Amino acid sequence: KEKGFIFDLDGVIVDTAKFHFLAWKKAAAEFNFELTPELNEKLKGVSRIDSLNKILKWANASVTNEKFAELSSDKNEDYLSYVQKMTKKDILPGVYNVLSNLKEDNYPMALGSASKNASTILEKVGLLDMFDSIVDGNSVRKAKPDPEVFLIAAKNLKIPPKKCIVFEDSEAGITAANNAGMISVGIGNKKHLGHADYMFDNFNEITFDFLKQLQPK
Ligand code: G6P
Ligand code: MG
Repeated sequence: KEKGFIFDLDGVIVDTAKFHFLAWKKAAAEFNFELTPELNEKLKGVSRIDSLNKILKWANASVTNEKFAELSSDKNEDYLSYVQKMTKKDILPGVYNVLSNLKEDNYPMALGSASKNASTILEKVGLLDMFDSIVDGNSVRKAKPDPEVFLIAAKNLKIPPKKCIVFEDSEAGITAANNAGMISVGIGNKKHLGHADYMFDNFNEITFDFLKQLQPK
């Protein structure tokens, strides 16, 4: 195949962005900081450690290494308590159709996520078998907006970066895709994704014909 498709996970395939928000909100409340939806946008696509560092900075707070580890592990436990309850119903609108159309046509597909929980979540919602390669928070060193995660995915798919299409809901993720020289498709909140090559509210708006005719920049 001449093109490859790379999907972010949280906020693109599944509706987990709200769980991350709830869990971070609770963690931030521990040092009396109120995490607003606006600030939360800056956490999307950002690794767990970087997220906590950002929140601490916004809160003007500093904690011991021990407390840092505790906050991050409590946040993850809280987050996983929501994940445990996930089912196919948590797959975002239109996603299943797009994935299965691409799969039927043998397009190579990868996951490119900062999450260390990616496989657990894909398994929960029954999508683990859709992807030829899963690149997640366990296999990358440099977090988005660094292009590393998407470049590894392209390499695994054996498709040149220029011929990869990335779906992202985060500001950092679109920047990462652009930095990788890929075609970036923003999903969701237009306000933060103005730098995407294409922009859609959700996957119901994306036709298979559109994906087939997409050409490198
Ligand atoms: C995704 C989410 C972020 C999250 C990151 C790490 O990029 O958009 O909100 O912080 O993954 O997720 P993890 O599951 O490893 O804590
Ligand atoms: Mg995301």
